[in-house]
Amino acid sequence: MDLMEKITSLAKRRGFIFPGSEIYGGIQGFWDYGPLGVELKNNIKHEWWRTMVYNRNDVVGIDASIIMNPEVWKASGHLDSFTDPLVECKVCHQRVRADNKEAIEEHKESHKDEIIEWTESKLFNLMTEVFLGVTEPKQKAYLRGEITQGVFVNFQNIVYSTRIKIPFGIAQIGKAFRNEITPGNFTFRSREFEQMELEYFIKPEEKEVERVFEYWKEQRMNWYVGLGIKKVNLRFREHAVSEKAHYARKAEDIEYKSSFGWKEFEGVHYRGDWDLSRHKLIYKDPKTGEEYTPWVIETSGGVDRSLLFFLIDAYSEDKDRKILKLHPKLSPYKLAVFPLLANNKKLVEKARKIFAELRRNFYVAWDDRGNIGKRYFSQDEIGTPWCVTIDFQTLDDNTVTVRDRDTTRQERVSVDNLENYFHNKLVG
Ligand code: GAP
Repeated sequence: MDLMEKITSLAKRRGFIFPGSEIYGGIQGFWDYGPLGVELKNNIKHEWWRTMVYNRNDVVGIDASIIMNPEVWKASGHLDSFTDPLVECKVCHQRVRADNKEAIEEHKESHKDEIIEWTESKLFNLMTEVFLGVTEPKQKAYLRGEITQGVFVNFQNIVYSTRIKIPFGIAQIGKAFRNEITPGNFTFRSREFEQMELEYFIKPEEKEVERVFEYWKEQRMNWYVGLGIKKVNLRFREHAVSEKAHYARKAEDIEYKSSFGWKEFEGVHYRGDWDLSRHKLIYKDPKTGEEYTPWVIETSGGVDRSLLFFLIDAYSEDKDRKILKLHPKLSPYKLAVFPLLANNKKLVEKARKIFAELRRNFYVAWDDRGNIGKRYFSQDEIGTPWCVTIDFQTLDDNTVTVRDRDTTRQERVSVDNLENYFHNKLVG
């Protein structure tokens, strides 16, 4: 089994990610997050929001709607230019992204020795159409292809309601939809996915662009490293002119070295005044009265893609132990509580009490099945950083065993100090 197969299988078996609408044969490019997946996803989003909004004075958040007036997409250039090149195999009529070398190669291999030909490359728009209203003709609208435009169209509302001054940023997390030609590599390229984005507005000055661009590159790289992604698996890659999106004057990706090659984690883009000028929006400096169209540096990451890469990077095996070495801040459960024996009333009662106290502040798993070794293995596989065992000594001295996922070391900790102990580990 290769690494991706192991991850896909673990994700399904343990309730992280399921194929969308599976009982009806699935639907390509759509995925459902299970009980552990939704926790991991929420933790990623929470960490992003904490870093990008709560810990800063110059960023505010919004949550714009998914469907917008279609004029937005005309103005932003998405209806004309948000496209991917597509070719069709003349033998079996399967369509593949012309710029996706892997998919082209894979397709050739699927025909074995047969010589295949491709049609001319054509551009296909990625926007997903929806139809609103109940009577004909229905109003055509679009599911947003990037969450970004919701920020730009609210630019004035945000400036007026918050009095925030340039330079400042607007952060948002939300769903985006793209009619991807070749969804694949598990959730890596989906048709429905979540983005976490910052649009950072600056004065239109060349020297600022360079400084702010480099600043955000570093901030975003540090975020992934701080949450445990191994440095050797990360790099920056600048986009060639032909790769850049229609709005980008400069674009660099943070890439992850996955088992299917170096792949985009997140994009840092300099969008200039593309969007605000297309929406005819300006900024008025409250002190000087100067009016101008701000320039924008954007950081745009995928929640699903991050989740996938966090899983891949955290996965390890040690003899017959499978371990997800997720950063504790991301782990679905922070702790698991076990009574040493499930059939000892006193142990179970004490363990239940400790479980109830801990779960007031942490998401805690309870397990009383099988033996302790099996319970450890089961928690290791889903990334639970610490397991707390209530044993006979607990009944004597009110201490428990805390076992660390990564080192497997165990220590005795007083029940009275347990909450602080985990709090310090998670914050520190
Ligand atoms: N607002 C800019 C923007 O949308 P992008 O490079 O097209 O830029 C940003 O997308 C991020 O969104 C990507 O780095 C990736 O993490 C995520 N993303 C884009 N398309 C995706 C897809 N089809 N499936 C999953 N994630 C995707």
